Amino acid sequence: MEELKGRNLVLGVSGGIAAYKAAELTRLLVKAGAQVDVVMTEAATRFVTPVTFQALSGRTVWTDLWDARIGNNMAHIDLTRGADGILIAPASADILAKLAHGFADDLLTTLCLARECALMVAPAMNRQMWEHPATRRNLAQLQADGVAIFGPGEGDQACGETGLGRMLEPEEVLEAVVAYFAPKLLVGRKVVITAGPTFEPIDPVRGITNTSSGKMGYALARACVRASAEVVLVSGPVSLPVPPGVRRVAVQSALQMRDAVLAEVPGAAVFIAVAAVADYRPAQTAEHKIKKSGEPMQLWLTPNPDILAEVAALPQPPFCVGFAAESRELDAYAAAKRAAKRVPLLVGNLVQDGLGGDDNEVVLYDDRGRHPLGRATKTELAWRIVEHLADLLAGGTQQE
Ligand code: PMT
Repeated sequence: MEELKGRNLVLGVSGGIAAYKAAELTRLLVKAGAQVDVVMTEAATRFVTPVTFQALSGRTVWTDLWDARIGNNMAHIDLTRGADGILIAPASADILAKLAHGFADDLLTTLCLARECALMVAPAMNRQMWEHPATRRNLAQLQADGVAIFGPGEGDQACGETGLGRMLEPEEVLEAVVAYFAPKLLVGRKVVITAGPTFEPIDPVRGITNTSSGKMGYALARACVRASAEVVLVSGPVSLPVPPGVRRVAVQSALQMRDAVLAEVPGAAVFIAVAAVADYRPAQTAEHKIKKSGEPMQLWLTPNPDILAEVAALPQPPFCVGFAAESRELDAYAAAKRAAKRVPLLVGNLVQDGLGGDDNEVVLYDDRGRHPLGRATKTELAWRIVEHLADLLAGGTQQE
């Protein structure tokens, strides 16, 4: 999905060891569909050469306020004409100080002063520089001036210290930029999402599970963050990283998932049940590994609680979105499931389309009828589900 298709961005790279991350960020921004004009400070060119950014952006890289290649010799104004935003990553303590005080002593700072577009910064510096009162003051000023600040993250630093000040990873910065431009469809709303399979233990080493990868649920979590929601992802065992901006609660079994969901649902505006929850669990879990006897063995199963139905039946339920995974007769089974679980919106998919892969084909069912979304990546479908959900929350005014 080209989330930044049609966007023109100026990527400012200031001097710092994290400048190497800006190379990967350039690649990701271009892959997401943006046109990227890279502007480097003199210090940045000490860490990475302009050639790297030229190759990755496919465009001229600018470093000099006096560059004569621009027709009117006004690089400091022309580069942001028509731009949607300037993103400075990494943003050093020095450039933050200059921006806070309106300095314009090189191409990048001059562009930032002579602009009408958005300004976003991803700070990167040593922990002590980040914590210094001067940096704190500069940050507060930039925030008051409407500058978007992404990060920084916490962790090991190039100087050997540990703490706040690391530039966010390129994927996280990309996600923040996409969210910055995305419509704030769910702003102020808490969304609880379940994702992945559950694992129902038979003994300490074995259990019953399924092949849900978690990709659909994680894509929805990312889409909800993009729409500015507060997102809690109650996730069964999957091998996916926590999406930026999401609070993940990791669980194993359906009973643990139920407890986590019921603890998170108070205060939530929306509950989206994407998880492939095991309908049954072993009636008893053996304390020790079951030994092979060579004889046939019976496993007694007992039904798991239906988390979605339970949430939908709360006295003041959040807006509930269910999923239905079927292997045939999607319309009939999905409609029956929506009625049985009493949910206003149900997303139907065939297991052969949706389980495991990066793509899916889904149909939405609500009081207005059936809305096929066709085949697309899970990322793209997730955003379209969020758009549909936001429209229903707003009273369902959107024309089909
Ligand atoms: O994870 P992926 O590989 O990306 O695959 C995505 C998916 C196919 C798992 C997903 O798109 C999907 O269809 N999820 C629902 C799977 C499922 O369990 O469907 P169901 O028809 O059995 O359940 C109906 C609904 O009730 C679901 O919202 C389910 O989360 C919920 N449920 C079911 C049983 C239970 N005990 N508690 C529940 O909350």
